[in-house]
Amino acid sequence: MKKVKVGIVGLGRLGLQHAKNLAFRIPHCELTAVCSVIEEEVNEVMQKWNIPFGYTNYEDMLENKELDAIFIASPSGYHCKQINQALEAGFHVFSEKPLGLYMEEALEVQTAVEAHPDQVFMLGFMRRYDRSYAAAKQKIDAGEIGQPVLIRCYGLDPANKMDSFLKFAKANYSGGLFLDMAIHDFDLARWYLGAEPEEIWAIGGSYARPEFDEIQDAETGAAMVRFDNNTTGIFVAGRNCAHGYHIETEIIGTKGTLRIGTVPERNQIVIMKEEGAIQECVDGFLERFEQAYLSEVEEFINCILEKRKPEVTVKDGVESTKLAYACKKSFETKTLINVKE
Ligand code: NAI
Repeated sequence: MKKVKVGIVGLGRLGLQHAKNLAFRIPHCELTAVCSVIEEEVNEVMQKWNIPFGYTNYEDMLENKELDAIFIASPSGYHCKQINQALEAGFHVFSEKPLGLYMEEALEVQTAVEAHPDQVFMLGFMRRYDRSYAAAKQKIDAGEIGQPVLIRCYGLDPANKMDSFLKFAKANYSGGLFLDMAIHDFDLARWYLGAEPEEIWAIGGSYARPEFDEIQDAETGAAMVRFDNNTTGIFVAGRNCAHGYHIETEIIGTKGTLRIGTVPERNQIVIMKEEGAIQECVDGFLERFEQAYLSEVEEFINCILEKRKPEVTVKDGVESTKLAYACKKSFETKTLINVKE
C-alpha cells in the first residue's frame, strides 16, 4: 500500500510527539519533512530520525511536491493562515486546536475547507479518539444512560505550568482561558448532547497569581451554558491545579450517569503510608492523552488512504470557537450572552 508522505510544522511540546507518531508508529505513513522557525529543532529531528527534508520557512515546505499532507502543530496564531496556504497548495491538512484565535479567521478557514472537498481536513480534537471518551459516546448513543441532560467538565492545567503559561501569555495573545483550555470540553459537550449552545454565563478570576488580571484573563473560571435542546453544560477551566492535570467529564442522563476521569490517576498503584492512601496523578496532556494523539493521527492517515472524511469537521472547530468567544464576552462584560440572537 502507498505511504502517505507528511510534512509537519511545529516541533514543540506537542509537535514533537506528533512527529514521533507520524515517523514511527503509523505503518502507512512517512514523516518526509519537518519545519520549525528554530533551526536547531529542525536539524536535530532530521539527523536523529533520518528525515529527508527540513525547513525553517513554512512556505518553502509547501513547495515540496513529494508531500501528500501537512500537519500543523505551530502556535495557535498561525493555524488559520497555514491551513489556508496548505489547502491552496493542494495538500490534505491536519491542524492542532484551536481552529483559530479569532472568529473571523475561523469562518474563513471553514470557507476554504469547503472549497476543497477532495482534500481531507481534520482538527485535533483528540479526546474524541481517547478510548474512554469514545466508549462513553457509544454508550450514550446506545441509550445506556437514557437521554443526556447535563454535562459537567473540568479542564485543569497543573499549577507547575503556570509560570511558563504566564510568560507566553504576556508576550502573545492566547485566546484566553475559555478558548485555550475549555475548547475540548465545548467540542465534547456538542458531541455528547447533540446540540448547539444558546445562552452562556461565564465568570472567573485571578486567585493565586494576580498577573492573570493584568492580561485580562482568568486563572480559574466557570461557564454555565443552556443548549438549544434545553440541556445544560457546566464547564470549569483553570490553570492552578495543585495535583496535576485534571480532565474530568460527567454526563447525566435520564436513566443514569457516566463519568470519565474522576480521579486523574497515573496508574493503578495506591501507596498507603503515614499521609494516607495516595494515588499519583498525570502531570500533563502528553501523559493523559498519549493514546488519543496516536489514534487521531491514524484516523487522519486512514481517511487519506480510504478517501473518506473524519468525524471531526471544520464546523466543529467553528462552533466550539463561537462558544469560547461567547464565554469570553460574558466573562469580560459580566452579562448573560445569547448566541442565537
Ligand atoms: P510550542 O510553543 O511548544 O511549539 C511551537 C513550535 O512551533 C515550535 O517548534 C516553534 O519553533 C514552531 N513555530 C513557531 N512559529 C512558527 C512559524 N511561524 N513557522 C514554523 N514553525 C513555527 O507549542 P505547543 O505547546 O506544542 O502547541 C502547539 C499547538 O498545539 C498550539 O496551537 C496549541 O494550542 C496546541 N496544543 C494542543 C493540545 C491538545 O491537547 N490537542 C495540547 C497542547 C497544545
